[in-house]
Amino acid sequence: MNYQDAYRKLEEFGQQHVLKYYEELNDEEKADLLRQIEETDFSIVKYLEHKGGESGEGHISPIGAMELSEVEKRRDEFTEIGLDAVRRGKVGAVLLAGGMGTRLGSEDPKCMYDIGITHPVFIMQRLVENLMEVVDAAGVFVPFFIMTSDKNHDKTVAFMKEKNYFGYDPSMVFFFKQEMAPATDYQGKVYMETKSRISTSPNGNGGWFQSMKRCGLIDKIHELGIEWLNTFAVDNVLQRIADPVFVGATIASGSACGAKTVRKAERDERVGVMCLKDGRPSIIEYYEMTPELLDAKNENGDPAYNFGVIMNYLFREKDLERIVDESLPVHIVEKKIACLDENGNPLSPGEPNGYKFEQLVLDMVQEMDSCLPVEVDRVREFAPIKNKTGVDSVESARVLCEKNGIVL
Ligand code: UTP
Repeated sequence: MNYQDAYRKLEEFGQQHVLKYYEELNDEEKADLLRQIEETDFSIVKYLEHKGGESGEGHISPIGAMELSEVEKRRDEFTEIGLDAVRRGKVGAVLLAGGMGTRLGSEDPKCMYDIGITHPVFIMQRLVENLMEVVDAAGVFVPFFIMTSDKNHDKTVAFMKEKNYFGYDPSMVFFFKQEMAPATDYQGKVYMETKSRISTSPNGNGGWFQSMKRCGLIDKIHELGIEWLNTFAVDNVLQRIADPVFVGATIASGSACGAKTVRKAERDERVGVMCLKDGRPSIIEYYEMTPELLDAKNENGDPAYNFGVIMNYLFREKDLERIVDESLPVHIVEKKIACLDENGNPLSPGEPNGYKFEQLVLDMVQEMDSCLPVEVDRVREFAPIKNKTGVDSVESARVLCEKNGIVL
């Protein structure tokens, strides 16, 4: 793309200021900036016009969940179905690790964080160890896809190589990069990180299947005969991955997807819960819950919206292909964004100063015709690490790991 084309593209979206410092740049920087302008989707900024209405309306009603008591009763049946699917290569695991992990505040990708006390125990190591339980039980390696972003790809790949994939079969590990989205000020003007770089951030965890498609991994999925994809977050160090019980329960239910859930610890716990929205499976965020929904009861007198998602989903692959080109809602999130001040000097704001644009994996659930929420024991399977200390932190995860006999 040449300067004129770049200018025209920016003009279309009212972002000509991106070229403000162009004349000060050297040739390499100029080429870099033009390439970035070519690759950036500025149209995403138009979602600011609808800010506040992203969650959309719709009639919310309860969805039936498979509770732990039923899972326990049918554990053997589900294990057999799930293990059979894993053994026949029908299940792939997809780690969504493209996030910035800003709350944890480490320079390195979150998966490289060491939660060990007496010896190193990296977050990625915990995830691979969990996955290895299934590999050992099934006697085959589960294809393991890892999504990264521009911001953490090289370090993540180098770390896995350096650690010898923590014992995983490297030929069954497939990295792919997600897309980036521009970040803007409150008026929707794209921020510049440097004079030759637009401020961008990973575009959320919802575009993972589109990114797999773009990277040619759907062919790999077909070649391997994968029918189910288990997507999961990087930060829950206790979660079971490609868990035969979860896979078996979802397959046995005939649902297009399954969602691991935990029973809410308290009425106001800040967790998105499973529900039906206009009759379709959906997730309602804690900040969208009205007092009526929070207090609603089911026929047993239990809270009607009681099962919170833990970002561990199983999707039927052919349904993902059906929806891959449909666009998901774009969420506008207020964040701190490194940028240039009006004099062109770098600025690291202490407070949020603009917006990032993200698509979320939870919105994919609504595109599915059916979803089975499956309850898991939160003490055994839910130790997310978002912060260093306090709620959902390295500290709280360490306590939970120890409760589960994991030596740190
Ligand atoms: P979070 O919502 O916790 O975001 O991601 P984050 O970026 O990791 O952390 P903060 O908010 O900056 O502290 C939940 C999961 O989704 C992945 C993360 O890597 C994590 O596994 N994710 C998030 C992506 O893969 N891509 C994204 O663009 C955002």
